[in-house]
Amino acid sequence: MALPVVDTEYLKEIDKARRDLRALIAYKNCAPIMLRLAWHDAGTYDKNSKTGGANGSIRNEEEYSHGSNSGLKIAIDFCEGVKAKHPKITYADLYQLAGVVAVEVTGGPTIDFFPGRRDSNICPKEGRLPNAKLGSPHLRDIFYRMGLSDKDIVALSGGHTLGRAHPDRSGFEGPWTQEPLKFDNSYFVELLKGETDGLLKLPTDTALLDDPAFRPYVELYAKDEEAFFRDYAASHKKLSELGFTQDSSGFKVKDTTVLAQSAAGVAVAAAVVILSYFYEVRKKMK
Ligand code: HEM
Repeated sequence: MALPVVDTEYLKEIDKARRDLRALIAYKNCAPIMLRLAWHDAGTYDKNSKTGGANGSIRNEEEYSHGSNSGLKIAIDFCEGVKAKHPKITYADLYQLAGVVAVEVTGGPTIDFFPGRRDSNICPKEGRLPNAKLGSPHLRDIFYRMGLSDKDIVALSGGHTLGRAHPDRSGFEGPWTQEPLKFDNSYFVELLKGETDGLLKLPTDTALLDDPAFRPYVELYAKDEEAFFRDYAASHKKLSELGFTQDSSGFKVKDTTVLAQSAAGVAVAAAVVILSYFYEVRKKMK
């Protein structure tokens, strides 16, 4: 397992990779599958055994050939071009960065991104991701195992504002919304309408309507996009950091505002100076 050193150079590479990902996603129109890749790499996390999570293990055939990952080799291959240009960046960071960029470039909220995830070649057994044919108890089993909450379940399900199902991948068909390349709250608006012509509703989607703890969030997000964006950004950040702790990375930046600004490309230089300072201090403390 390579331990990334998050120094000035690494942060510069992250910033460049972010730009390359924006261009790639715009050119290939592949935001949905990039988001699905990030989610499927992270979503295998088991908080009890501390296995799985955002560790890049999905790049191994053993894992991407799991039934639930059908089609994701396409996104893995797209990321290879960016990895070749920025070999220092771990796959684990790259896939999560791709997920964050996918949301941002399609009009979604800005999501704080902290680099430093380790890569792993240890693939979890098949069956850790949700089965779309089941209901609320299953969703809770899966997401609670990751350490996520009811609110996270509903907010993250809003990721289906992007993309579509493909019969040859999952056996389901069609988009959830009228504009599947736009990240907005329309997933919840359509869900509340019930059966809509041509739009997809998985059993796990309709489960959100029938469950008394989930439904209030669906109603809130359908009428208040700002609330959805705020909660989605927080839940997505949690998802993107499953299995990633200060201990596992050897370095983690605490000051969210610094990196959030750098994410917007505003204060890269300032962030780099401050981070190198933290890094130096930490080296001295060793
Ligand atoms: C709640 C449990 C979930 C289930 C059961 C589920 C299931 C599915 C299924 C069956 C597909 C269709 C795959 C295909 O045929 O190409 C899909 C696609 C997708 N999922 Fe989920 N998903 C869940 C949660 C999430 C989460 C948390 C996110 C992200 C935050 C997400 C993002 C996506 C995206 C963006 C696509 C479209 C991919 C494309 O267009 O190629 N899903 N999901």
